[in-house]
Amino acid sequence: MLKKKRAIVTGGSRGIGRAIVEELLRDGWSVCTCSRKEEDLIRLKEELGSPSGLYIKACNVGERQSVKNFVDFCLQKLGGLELLVNNAGLLGDRVSIEEYPEDVWEEVIRVNLNGIFYVTKYCLPHMKKGSVVVNLSSGAGKRPAPYWGAYAVSKFGVEGFSLLLAEELRERGIRVYALNPGATRTQMRARAYPQEDPKTLKPPKEVAKFLLKLLNSNVPSGSSVDYNSV
Ligand SMILES: NC(=O)c1ccc[n+]([C@@H]2O[C@H](COP(=O)([O-])OP(=O)(O)OC[C@H]3O[C@@H](n4cnc5c(N)ncnc54)[C@H](OP(=O)(O)O)[C@@H]3O)[C@@H](O)[C@H]2O)c1
Repeated sequence: MLKKKRAIVTGGSRGIGRAIVEELLRDGWSVCTCSRKEEDLIRLKEELGSPSGLYIKACNVGERQSVKNFVDFCLQKLGGLELLVNNAGLLGDRVSIEEYPEDVWEEVIRVNLNGIFYVTKYCLPHMKKGSVVVNLSSGAGKRPAPYWGAYAVSKFGVEGFSLLLAEELRERGIRVYALNPGATRTQMRARAYPQEDPKTLKPPKEVAKFLLKLLNSNVPSGSSVDYNSV
């Protein structure tokens, strides 16, 4: 059981990230979160009734200096951290590799892969034994997903990053998981599957509840965990 409960969650303005922020606050955590749009973060804070344990700052996780400023801000507010959730992500285009626009490729890799590297690198010096890193992955990062392009490749990278990090942190007693949330009712999912009825999908809150369960589980560090597999 952790004495202090302080978390950084990237991409908390909507979707799965927002649900994780809400669930952590409910569970007594202090949370610092970001997204690229400050107005969305301000709205989030207002909608949640401006809880004292919630800190917000605009940040693009794909930009080094922006991440440095965000992590500095979070540490100043939280004083340390026991949980990092790398959730922010971009879908990119759903076309073949041959047709994939170079600028979209570069942006998706920058955000989905470089982003988790920057955030994790700047957070790690402040994380102690017992802390946890959770990286949002995808089924598209585990088996070939034709026409998912940079998204799929970035998520294979997230799986690899998580495995490697878990090994490096084993002796320090910091656990690392790659979490595949599965089909979830969010803007990203609606963009990927415009024909789908969102009502048939689980709400993000279910993923957030599962993440809390994972934190309190004995699942070995370095595991690639599917939603509801614990
Ligand atoms: N939904 C699903 O079915 C599903 C399935 C598998 C995996 N996932 C993964 O779960 C995670 C969350 O997905 P979601 O469906 O909740 O997506 P979403 O609804 O599109 O929300 C993404 C969040 O990330 C933020 N974000 C995007 N780019 C960012 C950047 N460069 N810097 C900082 N924040 C950024 C967004 O805010 P701004 O746009 O304002 O920056 C938003 O808050 C992603 O990693 C996704 O790959 C989702």
